[in-house]
Amino acid sequence: MSELSEQIVNLGERSYPILIGSGLLKQDGILDPFVGDADVFVVTNDVVGPLYLKMLNALLGTRRIDSIELPDGEVHKTIASFESILDRLVAGRFARDALLITLGGGVVGDIGGFAAAAYQRGIRFIQVPTTLLAQVDSAVGGKTAVNHPGGKNLIGAFHQPSAVLIDTDTLVTLPDRELRAGLAEIVKYGLIVDAEFFAWLEVHAAELLAREPAALHHAIRRSCQLKAAIVAEDEREAGRRALLNLGHTYGHAIERCAGYGAWLHGEAVAAGICMAAEFSARLGYLESGDTGRISALFTALALPTSAPKLGVDDFMAAMSIDKKVVAGEIRLVLLHSIGSAEVTADYPSAELAALLAEQLVR
Ligand code: NAD
Ligand code: GLY
Repeated sequence: MSELSEQIVNLGERSYPILIGSGLLKQDGILDPFVGDADVFVVTNDVVGPLYLKMLNALLGTRRIDSIELPDGEVHKTIASFESILDRLVAGRFARDALLITLGGGVVGDIGGFAAAAYQRGIRFIQVPTTLLAQVDSAVGGKTAVNHPGGKNLIGAFHQPSAVLIDTDTLVTLPDRELRAGLAEIVKYGLIVDAEFFAWLEVHAAELLAREPAALHHAIRRSCQLKAAIVAEDEREAGRRALLNLGHTYGHAIERCAGYGAWLHGEAVAAGICMAAEFSARLGYLESGDTGRISALFTALALPTSAPKLGVDDFMAAMSIDKKVVAGEIRLVLLHSIGSAEVTADYPSAELAALLAEQLVR
């Protein structure tokens, strides 16, 4: 068993711990302080359930436990899946003091978290994230949602978990492509707030790709620490939390224009971050040496550094329907240097059009 790290997301009476370590799903009693003697409903999917549900059930002991295995995939991040959870909670007569546990990647965490936010106007829940992306990003911070045919994550709520339990051993079964997608979000933290962490990632890229436990543990711990600090400062994304969207407006447009599922979210974020870096350099904020370091790191992590060929008009339209658009203006995260960024809608739109023309038709 490796060291156990604990980070606190500091939100007053809604503060909660993020527990990170190897073998946590086998550590008797680890969930007891958060579960008490509550009835438990577990939300997982048909990939993760067969791998880890038995282990989680064993941790929960003799409490009353029920569970649902949703069909796998972003296409099932729907109101229908959300409703199927609620139907089971109602049929099982779960009361307001029941506790929901999400066991899976960001899709399961987002749908299950939203069901916990809505059922009986909100019941407690615990996130047990099993993808790298969910461990470093989606399980922390209380954003929950399902998709609408009109756009990603359009229906949801802020609802903070009571705890996040990250057993790094679950990454052993994660496909390589999914691991790399999570690494893209880790690089994001270095870029927006921590130049030293970015430099550490440059040195340890090969170890991360090789799933070296100590490197992964450090990367997950630091990412959670940085995200926890940002969420504590700006829970509802009135300001600083929007930095976490670095590269995401371009990335969401890539995902949408390439057809959902063709690019993983993390892959599109890597290419989107390279576009954001290029735009920042065009505006004179970022030095070309830094744009080079950013694309070199993504290359070392076997992630894409540019968007595929896509129609500029379609791409611009996709950027314009992103949730980050305020009063018709596309707010973008600009990099000033590695480790320093700002959110702004104050940039010359002709420059953005020129960047897209150059980047998308190559
Ligand atoms: P995902 O949940 O679809 O998981 C990726 C794949 O890995 C799935 O097939 C899943 O079944 C499988 N899987 C999960 N854990 C596994 C394991 N340990 N072993 C083997 N297979 C495993 O995708 P994701 O990348 O985890 O999450 C993406 C979702 O997260 C998107 O819907 C995105 O909108 C959301 N998200 C939310 C936030 C937030 O703040 N709430 C932040 C970022 C992303
Ligand atoms: N992943 C963006 C956020 O949590 O704010």
